[in-house]
Amino acid sequence: MGNADADTRGASKRDFPVLDGALPVLGHMAEMYRRFPALCARGRAKHGPLFWIHGGPGARQLMYADPAALSLLKSPSVSTSFYAEGFGALLGNTLFSFDGDEHRRVRQAVTPPFTPQRVRQSDVLEIITSAVDARIDKWERTPSFDVASEVGEIALEIIFRIMGVPVERLAAWRTQYKRFLLAGLPSTGKLPNPLQWVAIRARDWLDAQLGEMVDERRRSGDYKSLVGEIANGRADDGALIDRGLAVSNLRLLTFAGHETTASSISWSLIHLAASTDLQRRLATEADDDADLAALAMDGSRFTLAERTFREALRLYPPIHSVIRRVTAPIELEGGTIPKGALINVPFVHILRDALRFPDPDRFDPDRWKERPRPGTLETAMFGAGPHFCLGYHIAIAEGTLFNLLVGRLLRRRGLALALAGGAPVPAPIFLPLTHPPKATRLCLVPASKGAYL
Ligand code: HEM
Repeated sequence: MGNADADTRGASKRDFPVLDGALPVLGHMAEMYRRFPALCARGRAKHGPLFWIHGGPGARQLMYADPAALSLLKSPSVSTSFYAEGFGALLGNTLFSFDGDEHRRVRQAVTPPFTPQRVRQSDVLEIITSAVDARIDKWERTPSFDVASEVGEIALEIIFRIMGVPVERLAAWRTQYKRFLLAGLPSTGKLPNPLQWVAIRARDWLDAQLGEMVDERRRSGDYKSLVGEIANGRADDGALIDRGLAVSNLRLLTFAGHETTASSISWSLIHLAASTDLQRRLATEADDDADLAALAMDGSRFTLAERTFREALRLYPPIHSVIRRVTAPIELEGGTIPKGALINVPFVHILRDALRFPDPDRFDPDRWKERPRPGTLETAMFGAGPHFCLGYHIAIAEGTLFNLLVGRLLRRRGLALALAGGAPVPAPIFLPLTHPPKATRLCLVPASKGAYL
């Protein structure tokens, strides 16, 4: 994440306190790994909303543990360009690492296929339905399944198919994509380590495939499919998006739209498995006559399926926090955040704000009932400001439809979802992204008599 120490050491001592409990080398990483929300609450109780933490070697960060931090994400005095320094192979030349006008131009060119109307008109809902149905249909024939890896496979197939990868190429894409993820390991020296070489070769493979897709969509003048719209995307001055930019941002979609949805859908399922009442209500909503794809895009209210997904995202935001580098001094809370400082905006804390979410640690889908129009705080798991998640509507549709399809399966087959061995809901792991522990297994069991009458 770069080294902010040199720029900020003097000012930080003068301005904001440092949270205790940092270990040598690891800093506060160990605490963040299993107890990220508790770390934020501890710092906030001790020091107020702003305090320094050590997020690992050379990554001193100013934690801003307050919903007001969301406004900072809209400020022109913060930058994301450092993402390209530490994670160049993963995020370089993508929306994630662009600021200001450069970001605006590219974002504008790639945005059209992501509006609710376009999602509704596209094949996205059909793809989600067929990928989920095909896989959950097999759950009954297995004693139990690892929820994270099972949902991870489904989510990967969905994002690849949305991007237009031919079904017969899915296996090859999967292999290369998994190698490419090794690029998420931070690089310390100037040269990549051996694992990163593997990642870079996989990235080049993906880029070659994506490049061919872009060329083909340009030749055929395809403005309808998601890839076609991005390949032929134009900024407000009418200029066609650069080929390299189209390729790297298409690649970004895979990465941004896979681990995130997989994690939050897994948490939805885990909490469904822990509540027969929730399952019964969901199965009623997913009644045989209901058009599930239409329900998943119902913008007038939050269905129970959507409330359950949003609540999973609130308690377990996959991107637990985002970091920005300050490009000009910012006055806040009676202190000055110096130029060069890294600020951490912890969604995982902000989304447990007790004023907006009473009894915040409780999983309660019905808390979303009264607020059909979510504001900045309610959508904080998707970020805020210019980098707000581009795939927001796809993600919500995917998580909601997934829940509905599971509800329908339970109802049709007279089954219930359960945590294998009667295990309790596990505590999350927060790094690198929030996710359930590996051995979290679910199973299908016969529902109690009359459960879905
Ligand atoms: C539950 C699922 C998802 C969550 C929680 C999520 C969360 C986020 C967050 C927090 C950011 C902002 C990062 C920052 O400010 O540094 C972001 C950005 C982004 N997301 Fe998502 N995301 C999800 C699904 C998706 C999907 C399905 C797609 C694409 C199909 C997608 C594409 C993107 C892109 C391209 C960006 C970068 C936008 C920009 O920098 O302008 N995301 N997402």
